[in-house]
Amino acid sequence: MRSLADRPVNPSVGETVAHESAALHVTGTALYTDDLVFRGARVLHLWPVQAPHAHARVTALRTAPAMTVPGVVRVLTAEDVPGTNDAGTKHDEPLFPDEVMYYGHAVCWVLGETLEAARLGAAAVEVEYEPLPSILTLTEAIAAQSFQGNQPTVARGDAAAALAAAPHRFTGEFEMGGQEHFYLETHASLAHVDESGQVFVQSSTQHPTETQEIVAHVLGLHAHDVTVQCLRMGGGFGGKEMQPHGLAAVAALGAVLSGRPVRMRLNRTQDMTMTGKRHPFHATWEVGFDDDGHLLALRATITSDGGWSLDLSEPVLARALCHIDNAYFIPDVEVHGRIGKTHKTSQTAFRGFGGPQGMLVIEDILGRCAPALGIDPAELRRRNLYEPGQSTHYGQPVRHAERLRDVWDQVVERSDFEARRQQVAAFNAAHRHLKRGIAITPVKFGISFNFTAFNQAGALVHVYKDGSVLINHGGTEMGQGLHTKMRQVAATALGLPLGRVRLAPTRTDKVPNTSATAASSGADLNGGAIKDACDQIRERLAEVAARKLNVHPDDVRFVDGRVTGIGFHDQDLSFEEVVGAAYSQRVQLFAAGYYRTDGIHWDASRMQGEPFKYFSFGAAVSEVEVDGFTGAYRFVRTDIVHDVGDSLSPLIDLGQIEGGFVQGAGWLTLEELRWDTSDGEHRGRLATQAASTYKLPSFSEMPEELNVHLYERATESGVVYGSKAVGEPPLMLAFSVREALRAAAAAFGPEGTVVELASPATPEAVYWALDAARSAERSGPGAPRSKTGLPARHDGGAAAPGAAAPGAAAPGAEETARTGTPGAADADGRRPEPVART
Ligand code: MTE
Ligand code: MOS
Repeated sequence: MRSLADRPVNPSVGETVAHESAALHVTGTALYTDDLVFRGARVLHLWPVQAPHAHARVTALRTAPAMTVPGVVRVLTAEDVPGTNDAGTKHDEPLFPDEVMYYGHAVCWVLGETLEAARLGAAAVEVEYEPLPSILTLTEAIAAQSFQGNQPTVARGDAAAALAAAPHRFTGEFEMGGQEHFYLETHASLAHVDESGQVFVQSSTQHPTETQEIVAHVLGLHAHDVTVQCLRMGGGFGGKEMQPHGLAAVAALGAVLSGRPVRMRLNRTQDMTMTGKRHPFHATWEVGFDDDGHLLALRATITSDGGWSLDLSEPVLARALCHIDNAYFIPDVEVHGRIGKTHKTSQTAFRGFGGPQGMLVIEDILGRCAPALGIDPAELRRRNLYEPGQSTHYGQPVRHAERLRDVWDQVVERSDFEARRQQVAAFNAAHRHLKRGIAITPVKFGISFNFTAFNQAGALVHVYKDGSVLINHGGTEMGQGLHTKMRQVAATALGLPLGRVRLAPTRTDKVPNTSATAASSGADLNGGAIKDACDQIRERLAEVAARKLNVHPDDVRFVDGRVTGIGFHDQDLSFEEVVGAAYSQRVQLFAAGYYRTDGIHWDASRMQGEPFKYFSFGAAVSEVEVDGFTGAYRFVRTDIVHDVGDSLSPLIDLGQIEGGFVQGAGWLTLEELRWDTSDGEHRGRLATQAASTYKLPSFSEMPEELNVHLYERATESGVVYGSKAVGEPPLMLAFSVREALRAAAAAFGPEGTVVELASPATPEAVYWALDAARSAERSGPGAPRSKTGLPARHDGGAAAPGAAAPGAAAPGAEETARTGTPGAADADGRRPEPVART
């Protein structure tokens, strides 16, 4: 019996092929949802009426003035909703709200003959508001105890006791920013109703089934009355996992009420001001190390900024809690999670889904504590990597931990890390106002949905009489190359050249009850389902061929469109011949495939289990150069070794790794969402609502040298053709850039300077960090180095033998030299009790 991971001879999987729509993408002929508008007739257009308050009650809504605008057809309000006035799965998102929950919240929508008519109509709608007090920042939310959803704790062992006994203890606080998805294609839907009331919605959605469900419940229909199709997305990145539903429902409502096709497409500013983003997080932490720098315990409270409604905030938080270890073994752990409720867009999935935020907490801790421990950061990280046999804090064994170390060693070697560290040191010694930094960071990322039920998929495969193949599966294409991989899987399973397999767009009436294309699991799940369908067909064809070839069906082989008996190549049939014979013999030539990920379980209330099928590993080395006058930086070089198992499609995977890395670097460096947090009349307004004010990485921010290597001989048993997921994990390789920036900033100060770096590490933030390091040099021992201070070290009484935190009284000459703070005042660093930093 073959296993899921085994590959036949001459497989299509593993071949370097271009993205199946690459030519269409680059020639502008690929169709996106909104392109369909111009192929239809009598399409109506939607424009939202956005509230100019962070929080307010709608006291009056007068739509009549809009109806006097030429071309306005109708204004959609809560009264028009035949079903449930709710856009979410948590029932906390009124589609047409009477309470405005964030600046830009749409209170109603205008339907016009043209987009311009709809826009003018929206401007004519009169809305009266009673402004209410608002909570905007995480700090405000925490102070007001404004939380939503559950507050899980993940724990192992006794963190309090382990911290008390730890030779070295530090506490700190950290806040990281969110991120705008900035997919090139903004949210779009196009809705039709047919003669029998059947609703058909084309939507740019990562989760067609859930879009279907929300459209149905808003319209008061059953699921079988609504079909959702997604041709492709011009990027989703998690932003179209849950956010498209309400928007599609508004379009569908318009179509039902008008009897005409209705188009909803947000412009960039609407998209940025109305839809959710990556969650910002706040963390307070306390960590303990032994004398060798091994992590002993971590106690932390992490709070995400969920925005106005829950959306996916609970699972995002769960993933953050499950990834706070990143690649490191921490024996005793106690981490509490909370979701802040603020008057902002409802924050949502974004590549990594909380994983990056959790992992950033531990990477920041290690980056801050390494100099305080007097241990080189690369060495501190390496020492703490998981070893085979160890388990995570939620109870999952880290299978293949040896691969993690192997990946690490390979990137050290490929990047020439040791020699380049010397070069960086020499460069820094020779340059006073320009400093370089180099850093290495690992990635371990769990693959599967934490929510076990989502780990299933379906597919529908048709073989036509001429031997051509059409496949359909539940996954959506957002540029990540899923459809390319799925064609390769089908071609492999049927033993056909790739050109014989065509793919039809994702629709809910072909494959029902699908999961979101998310959690990087698209290829694992849908690939498993397609392979299942193809295997069924191939087995039926093998019986037909066996009769012709006079061999046992088990001995029939399908390779490159030819069908032979094992070892009997004198007799050789074409795939079409076998298909033709099968049709004549009335053998079914199509099949539904199904796949469920086995062996996973998760107890969400105890936060324990084995939620992930496996872990993806990677490691990156980055070098940066920082200007001491401005904080401006260059990305000099990045080397990556990443584990995708046996790649299904190497060129696609390379693109995913490069794209993920750059998107992560954007999150950690340039991209900064700013909201008006003043008490002025625009309180709550997103100030960065266009490409002019929201800085995305572009070619100039690519590392000047970027080397990506796929980890070899990496077969992942139990996954389709031995591959591993690739969509999200590479994003977190960008931690290496942030740590390199920290190292460069530190180089402006005395050796062993502890650097606190804001996230995003914009040039401005880097400037303040390096300036703090520099002033440590200038003002001498014990001077405070930044406004938030250094990680404070707390000697929990008797158990503290040696190492000094910077600013602490240094017990020995060696420690003093490391931290560069001889004779610092006691009061600076030695406090009897752990104190949370503010
Ligand atoms: N790559 C491109 N080009 N565009 C995208 O929108 N989304 C990412 C990743 N790579 C995305 C992408 C996210 S958030 C996920 S979860 C995965 O792709 C989803 O696809 P997969 O499961 O097929 O990997
Ligand atoms: Mo990806 S954030 O799981 O859509």
